[in-house]
Amino acid sequence: MKELDWANLPFGYMKTDYNVRIYYRNGQWGETEVCSEETIPMHMAATCLHYGQEAFEGLKAFRGKDGQIRVFRPEENAARLQSTCRGILMPELPTERFVEAVKKVVKLNERFIPPYESGASLYIRPLLVGTGAQVGVHPAKEYLFIIFVTPVGPYFKGGFSTNPYVIIREYDRAAPLGTGIYKVGGNYAASLRANKKAHDLGYACEFYLDAKEKKYIDECGAANFFGIKNNTYITPLSTSILPSITNKSLMQLAEDMGMKVERRPVPEEELSTFEEAGACGTAAVISPIERIDDVENGHSYVIAKDGKPGSICTKLYNKLRAIQYGDEPDVHGWVTIVD
Ligand code: PLP
Ligand code: COI
Repeated sequence: MKELDWANLPFGYMKTDYNVRIYYRNGQWGETEVCSEETIPMHMAATCLHYGQEAFEGLKAFRGKDGQIRVFRPEENAARLQSTCRGILMPELPTERFVEAVKKVVKLNERFIPPYESGASLYIRPLLVGTGAQVGVHPAKEYLFIIFVTPVGPYFKGGFSTNPYVIIREYDRAAPLGTGIYKVGGNYAASLRANKKAHDLGYACEFYLDAKEKKYIDECGAANFFGIKNNTYITPLSTSILPSITNKSLMQLAEDMGMKVERRPVPEEELSTFEEAGACGTAAVISPIERIDDVENGHSYVIAKDGKPGSICTKLYNKLRAIQYGDEPDVHGWVTIVD
């Protein structure tokens, strides 16, 4: 293989050697199969193509200074996929099968795991699709679970640096009692116009308010929001945001650092009171927020006054990365070693 430019990888798809697949047929999950095809032969009436019976996950593997391969909290992704399955009536893959498949696909593609020094990682993308044919709106009887991997660099340009965001009121990502809490493809289809608009206006990402009242903060594109003030980590409680595993981890790390943690509705006006704020997720890690513009109301909430990441965001980022790369002890048992 031609040596990859590990330090300058984009966040995108690259062909690797193998993916793993598990078929669900006759009411049960089959064996974990290893495959080198990038395509899926599928019935044209598959429910994933017509009725959105599709779920995905995202997690990462990291190569440590010690050469070891670490996967961050795969059991949490397994549990979230199970929750999504309950949400759109798909069969649940047991946690052990999920974790075993993650370890297998990472090991098989070991040569694509970026070296420690590059600061890049291996993105792991599990997906589950309804493959059984239906024309009436009903759940399929057959499913396919796949995991592929691809080496990635930072999601936002510039890595750990501040970015501007824009509040979009025109389009909703998810309804209050809809599928926002699940990781289904439909939510991302619903976000495409808002995301394009934000990019066209020169912003890193779109910022959503709650769909019902447009009063409270929901999330930032494909990442959760958190704000910091008075030694407190504050993150929205909402029925339409994805429960982020990164956010859950940061809440724990903030607590470990002696901060208070609040999970509650966050009104838009409160943005003007934060000392620091960030967008967090597997892909984004922490992306410190420079400012959030409310274009319609002609208001700009400037958070990073000097344009630089704040000290608490920086501490949280360094701590999380240190655990992921194995530079610091994994006191919470978040890391799965692949050997
Ligand atoms: N919110 C949305 C809509 C996402 O797609 C993601 C990414 O998975 C997140 C938040 C962050 O979640 P996590 O930290 O589990 O990656
Ligand atoms: C992730 O953080 O894994 C995401 O969901 C980002 C993605 C949708 C590109």
